[in-house]
Amino acid sequence: MRVLVVGGGGREHALAWKLSQSPQVDEVFCAPGNAGMAALGACVPIHHTDIVELADFAESVHVDLTVVGPELPLTLGIADEFERRKLRIFGPRQSAAELEGSKVLAKRFMEENGIPTAEFRVVTSRADAEEVLDGGELGWPVVLKADGLAGGKGVLIPANREEAEAALVQLFDERAFGAASDKVVIEECLQGTEASYHVLLDGEHFFPLASAQDYKRIGDGGQGPNTGGMGTVSPSPRLTKDLQRAIIEQVVTPTMKGLKTGGRPYKGVLFIGLMLTEDGPKVLEYNVRFGDPETQVILPRLDGDLFELLSAVVDGKLNQVHPKWHHQAATCVVMAAKGYPGRPETGHVIEGLDAAGAIEGVTVFHAATKADEGAVKTIGGRVLGVTALAPNLGRARDVAYEAVERISFEGAQYRKDIGQDVLDYLASRKSE
Ligand code: AMP
Ligand code: GLY
Repeated sequence: MRVLVVGGGGREHALAWKLSQSPQVDEVFCAPGNAGMAALGACVPIHHTDIVELADFAESVHVDLTVVGPELPLTLGIADEFERRKLRIFGPRQSAAELEGSKVLAKRFMEENGIPTAEFRVVTSRADAEEVLDGGELGWPVVLKADGLAGGKGVLIPANREEAEAALVQLFDERAFGAASDKVVIEECLQGTEASYHVLLDGEHFFPLASAQDYKRIGDGGQGPNTGGMGTVSPSPRLTKDLQRAIIEQVVTPTMKGLKTGGRPYKGVLFIGLMLTEDGPKVLEYNVRFGDPETQVILPRLDGDLFELLSAVVDGKLNQVHPKWHHQAATCVVMAAKGYPGRPETGHVIEGLDAAGAIEGVTVFHAATKADEGAVKTIGGRVLGVTALAPNLGRARDVAYEAVERISFEGAQYRKDIGQDVLDYLASRKSE
């Protein structure tokens, strides 16, 4: 079988890596891929938004299954284009991908289907927004979200009315997020612990993936600006069996039902961002793709054939496969370029990749890397996801950091505390 992975980040390297281990997969193509993915298969220089070119390529080399990493091609309708041409693709159609592409649509969907989420209003002008804020019904702090995709930056959480005014100027006057803020969701700020939950959906059945926890801020202890994710661990011990049951009952089941009855059949992975509040889990957002770097810790723990699993999604046969999870734990530490999450420095040579990869249980997933004149160089913000699989979370953390210390590039920055709070949490539970 021939597989095409669309995208070129750490998530896509992890997908290509696990797919290439399937006995059914003969050849992996990556578009556009990165220096790490090039070791697994041919990288073709097609951007992930060029959906017609991607379909032409899949047709020309007879790809059996295409797996889409990022959300943008899905919201642009890559699944619709492939399905029109009878090409098998893992990922939801445009109408379902709108769950991530439009926060207004997602909130209305949750309201209509009784899915727990924060109280909200939708506004289309600064004057409307001011009226809602002056009414004070949603309390302070309050959450402002640009409706459309804004590269993870379209969420503002002003603490008071004065800060809110500055946020409104950004959204409506300066148009910092362009057309994404033609509509804005104003919502109640929820208190609790954040968690994320990945579930595969084939339109009729669902299959939960292993739990994972992301570290979103750039700095240790959760300080500094938000990023795409600076590290992850799996499993996430805070997502207890009881909580997972509640999430399935209160969120996954009504979501699947709502998609089906609303004419948005969903085949792919749904990555649900949750706040675990005193009143139970509430949905912060839907993502219509795998998390990055959640995928880098979830897939090494899959004790089964990823090609078979994703094919079952495409064929509507998820009820016929029963993959298991390794009891081992995984930790991923992201090494980022100097300047990230602002403007990253690029073009630096990366040393020590082989030495790090030689440690038992370690896989170095590439993200913003490029092979250049016999060297591997940095080309963007999140450069590598250094991942360790080990008997428990403590060991996985130690091994991941041992590997990180073998790798160097100018200006490299990484968090030193990935997984630490989880180990503290486990220790506190033990002493109870
Ligand atoms: P989103 O892109 O909707 O997940 O928002 C990005 C981040 O903003 C989330 O991961 C949360 O940290 C925060 N956030 C979003 N909505 C809320 C909310 N209603 N209450 C508290 N925090 C929120
Ligand atoms: N790590 C968060 C995300 O993929 O959106």
